[in-house]
Amino acid sequence: LTQQDLAGKTVLVTAGPTREPIDPARFLSNRSSGKMGYAIARAAFRRGAKVILVSGPTALTCPAGVKRLEVQTAQEMYETVLQHSEQADIIIKSAAVADYRPGEQAVHKVKKEEISPALSLVQNPDILLELGRRKKKGQLLIGFAAESRRLREEGEKKLKRKNLDLIAVNNISGENTGFESESNQLLLLSKSRVEQLPLTGKLHTADLLLDRICSL
Ligand code: PMT
Repeated sequence: LTQQDLAGKTVLVTAGPTREPIDPARFLSNRSSGKMGYAIARAAFRRGAKVILVSGPTALTCPAGVKRLEVQTAQEMYETVLQHSEQADIIIKSAAVADYRPGEQAVHKVKKEEISPALSLVQNPDILLELGRRKKKGQLLIGFAAESRRLREEGEKKLKRKNLDLIAVNNISGENTGFESESNQLLLLSKSRVEQLPLTGKLHTADLLLDRICSL
């Protein structure tokens, strides 16, 4: 039987990409499949937590026992996460949120001959930064960082700037780690510790991450 070390805790997990519409047919997005975040939600539920999963569009089915709230855009994810963040003991932000969205969304499909080669973009709110500002005493805030170089330095910057307890740095340049793959390898950074996790399946990675969170 799985150890029930998250019994009585509410865990809020975000997963998947966001979609930023250009017109009724097109959007800006990224390669996130949601596999990492869904694995965390599944593992947290098995360890006894009440789990709320805020998910961008993915092809995955909701893990048994998990409450899923589906969103499309970064703005929707921002609102949904903030509505539920107060009740969470642990927040894990594995979603790949689009940093920018098109400044205007066309009501009708833009015709090929009308498309402007320049898309004007505006910045989306940084959900994790806002959660760091609002963090309550005793709440644990865990971020991810998708990086292709200088993993430790970039991770340390985000850990500090976003007021996190732990950051999982994800190497997205390898074939067996990061976006879409079944496996992953995370570098975990907290104020006092650096830990390189092994290359392993995403569900096992999720359990190793939760082991570390439980020890914080
Ligand atoms: O979904 P998979 O295919 O399984 O792939 C897993 C993954 C690579 C998507 C995942 O493990 C991962 O690395 N997620 C974080 C991706 C990301 O957006 O990283 P970032 O370095 O751009 O953002 C840093 C942190 O800030 C993240 O926790 C992100 O959720 C958060 N963020 C970023 C921008 C924004 N506007 N709001 C945010 O909350």
